Amino acid sequence: MRISVIGAGYVGLVTGVCFAKLGNEVTFIDIDAERIEAINNKSSPIYEEGLDKLLKSVRIKACFDFQEVLNSEIIFICVGTPSNEDKFILLDQIEKAAKEIGQMLERREEYCVICVKSTVAPGTTEELVIPILEKSGRKAGTDFGVCMSPEFLREGKAVYDFMNPARIIIGEYDKRSGDILSKLYRSFNAPIMRTHLKIAEMTKLASNAFLATKISFMNEIGNICKKLGIDVYEVAKGMGFDDRIGSKFLNAGVGFGGSCLPKDLGGLISKSRQIGYEPNLLQEVLNLNDEQALRLIELLKKHISLKDATVGILGLAFKPETDDVRDSRAIKIVQALLQEGAKVKAYDPMAMKNFKKLFPQIEYVTTDKVLNSDAIFIVTEWQEFSELDYTGKVVVDGRRIEKARGARIYEGICW
Ligand code: UGA
Repeated sequence: MRISVIGAGYVGLVTGVCFAKLGNEVTFIDIDAERIEAINNKSSPIYEEGLDKLLKSVRIKACFDFQEVLNSEIIFICVGTPSNEDKFILLDQIEKAAKEIGQMLERREEYCVICVKSTVAPGTTEELVIPILEKSGRKAGTDFGVCMSPEFLREGKAVYDFMNPARIIIGEYDKRSGDILSKLYRSFNAPIMRTHLKIAEMTKLASNAFLATKISFMNEIGNICKKLGIDVYEVAKGMGFDDRIGSKFLNAGVGFGGSCLPKDLGGLISKSRQIGYEPNLLQEVLNLNDEQALRLIELLKKHISLKDATVGILGLAFKPETDDVRDSRAIKIVQALLQEGAKVKAYDPMAMKNFKKLFPQIEYVTTDKVLNSDAIFIVTEWQEFSELDYTGKVVVDGRRIEKARGARIYEGICW
């Protein structure tokens, strides 16, 4: 099929490259000249496992020009939906993309499908995207089709997740558009759920909110277990045998970060308040997550005074195998340490450059130097932290690194 992808960020790029690999003709439309050039030069502008290799093996093109939409049977909207200070999901980029597509629809005779993939609040496709597209004088469901099909890709594993989805959710405005999108996904070995636009939008937000809840839940159980002298990881193992609970995402620790779970949870909370419902549980999931990061500080204070102490941080990325520091737990922790008057030395195999943009005032060093600090916080579970020698050190571990248990003073956050 002929596909256009508007927005070559991590969802758009992975989606487009994978669909190209599956034999489709794909064009990316983006506003970023460097990104377009990189894609056309077959060099991935973002790091994603396997993406660069895949990009080199397919025929795709990237450009600024929305005219490409005129040739496409399916147009995916994959632009960014960041949030504002009140955590509302911002729709400026969606609006702009819809306007540009609308202008092309004025000149297009044949039916095509416009599919929103960006994460948006329930109702956005119907109440914002369709009215903008219909300004073209063409009618949704007759002259063009509309779908909303969210992605469930983990950063770092996005190519794998795209090719091996647990499910494909297709929200459809009209049956014809759902049929076309289902045809595109026909080679995937996964259940396809066809549903309403709003349900697809909500399924995405609810899935991320649930994952976040699972983590905060286990962190709370872990905090209780620590006081009782019970190993929460053994408890999680016992719980995980029940397939209603599942064994994944039960790792208690310093909490969740990244560009998705906190943002989507915040988006759902603000949408909910806007329509007059106070989402107490979801708000508490966020509160617990914020407090969890600060628990590392409280645990260390039991052993040393923070004023003028040097604290070494192992791990700045929001999870291993990425340089992404967005909403990383390390941000809250470093902020709090600086407020307490401590000096901070930090190490991360990939994320130091990005972290430095946020905290130019702290020292970025090797693991040896971190280990020489008065105390060490483990904040991201990079494999290499399992191989360090913690003998004689003071360690507060937020991610359960077994080797660190050999430290002179060892405090696990939840164990
Ligand atoms: C998340 C979801 O897992 C994807 O399904 C979703 O598609 C994606 O957001 C998105 O909306 O685009 P991602 O942000 O890449 O993916 O990160 P995860 O691998 O889910 O990890 C999120 C955070 O939770 C990390 O900080 C991680 O350290 C933490 N975590 C994870 C825990 O603290 N405990 C766990 O047991 C699991």
